[in-house]
Amino acid sequence: MLRQKHGGLYLKTLVGIDDIAVYVPRLYLELANEEHPEKPTEFSQARQSEPAKYLHGIGIAKMSIPDTYQDSSVLAANAIFELIERNYVSPSNVARIDIATETGVDESKPVAAYVHGMLEQKFGKGAFKKTSGVEYKFACVSTADALESSLDWAWAGRSNGKVSVVCAVDIAKYPLNSPGEPTQGAGAVAFLVKENPRLLAFDSVIGTYMEDEDDFWRPLFSTTAVVHGKHSEKCYLKAMEGAVDNWAEQATTSGLIKTRPGESLIDHLGPMSFHVPYPKMAEKGFAYLLRHFWRGLPRWNEIVKQIGTEPKAAGAGIKKIDEIEKAESDYMKRFMETSKFQSEYKDKIADGLTHARESGNAYSASEKMCLSMLLETKAKKGADLAGKRGGSGNYGSGSKAKASSWVLQEEWNTVAKTFGHAEKLKRRRQITLADYEALHEGRSLPDGRKFVAEPENEFVLIDVTPQGYRHYKFAD
Ligand code: CAA
Repeated sequence: MLRQKHGGLYLKTLVGIDDIAVYVPRLYLELANEEHPEKPTEFSQARQSEPAKYLHGIGIAKMSIPDTYQDSSVLAANAIFELIERNYVSPSNVARIDIATETGVDESKPVAAYVHGMLEQKFGKGAFKKTSGVEYKFACVSTADALESSLDWAWAGRSNGKVSVVCAVDIAKYPLNSPGEPTQGAGAVAFLVKENPRLLAFDSVIGTYMEDEDDFWRPLFSTTAVVHGKHSEKCYLKAMEGAVDNWAEQATTSGLIKTRPGESLIDHLGPMSFHVPYPKMAEKGFAYLLRHFWRGLPRWNEIVKQIGTEPKAAGAGIKKIDEIEKAESDYMKRFMETSKFQSEYKDKIADGLTHARESGNAYSASEKMCLSMLLETKAKKGADLAGKRGGSGNYGSGSKAKASSWVLQEEWNTVAKTFGHAEKLKRRRQITLADYEALHEGRSLPDGRKFVAEPENEFVLIDVTPQGYRHYKFAD
């Protein structure tokens, strides 16, 4: 077991993630063909757009789409069931199963309760009666809050040898034909939180930034989100920078990380994973942070020599603001083309974004799904990361960001190789635009089919009665 330093002291109890299981719906809609990026797709033609915009502009090639028998509870139950089975966890040893979601299925009854019921269909009635559970909501960021609560519970010495499961799940949905439509997706990610974890152990330094913002919300009457897309991108950058600054302040004052002259705090972090509404946003977010942390260092002078000085914000008036935004956007593009940025991006972030490129956004599940993909890919590449510190940045519209850091443990690569994440993405099947639009609108499928793909060893939603009872079962 690695000893983990915190604030000049060693943490008495290492707590973190022992294993991760992802569930990805088995259907996808193709936005762009990666082998033939110039070739129009059914979707790009219908939306009179270019596949290159999806592939290069936002970075998404495919969006995962749930079938008729899938809601957030089902996706969550499937991820959690795999996690519990794979780790031979006894139900009596699970103290809590908490769910982070912004697409719950009921205004009162939490997804956690439905998941409980589904799991007891497999493990026996009453098997989880001493297991607590709750639903966390704050757009895409509540995963970080759910996790923090489990970490605090274990650090406080209340776990008594038991484990906790945190699951983030969402079905990202915008209106058909809206700008947000190509940034949809769905999925669930469950992680086993315990003492002396095999995968990664968290530092007790967690950064926060929050303010009341109207960038994205979903009114009670709506199944799709309302979003001010361009404003939401600015909110993401501002909040992420605020949370990372708050983390950095604590990391410095506590002595968790000590930088030498010419170094940046980010130099002390290896793999990093951010909330990914679409890959280009996470890439820009990372570039924004690097600019923030590199400014004033000797290496920044080299950047300035290559691409010039940063545009200065000045003056008021719409025309001026437009000009400033254009200059900033052009500068960001130039910075992202520098070899210094590219090598950091490829080393720390890029491998995880493959998930979002292949699956789209899954709101609260997005950051940890990309973390799963990042660690699985690094493990398969044979990266030597034991003892290396990494970072996570979560953003939720409305708005709040959280920044945390963790240290990869000695067995991280053995665990990460068994996620089966890339394999799950490969096993999906492509659907037609007609099927996608019917699923999106909750209409009957063409030809009166009940579903697109036959369920395979997974939980399914059977029906919802007029009073809102939801019935689930395991389809063998
Ligand atoms: N080839 C290459 N690139 C192209 C292109 C082409 N043929 N055509 C367009 N592009 C580029 C554009 O230049 C642009 O790049 P830059 O942003 O670097 O300038 C990019 O593709 C996007 O194109 P548009 O500017 O035309 O943007 P859009 O009107 O299609 O909207 C969006 C994009 C705002 C992301 C929209 O999809 C949206 O509203 N999505 C939902 C909101 C969202 O995801 N916000 C992110 C922050 S909020 C958050 O993180 C929480 C969350 O999960 C929702």
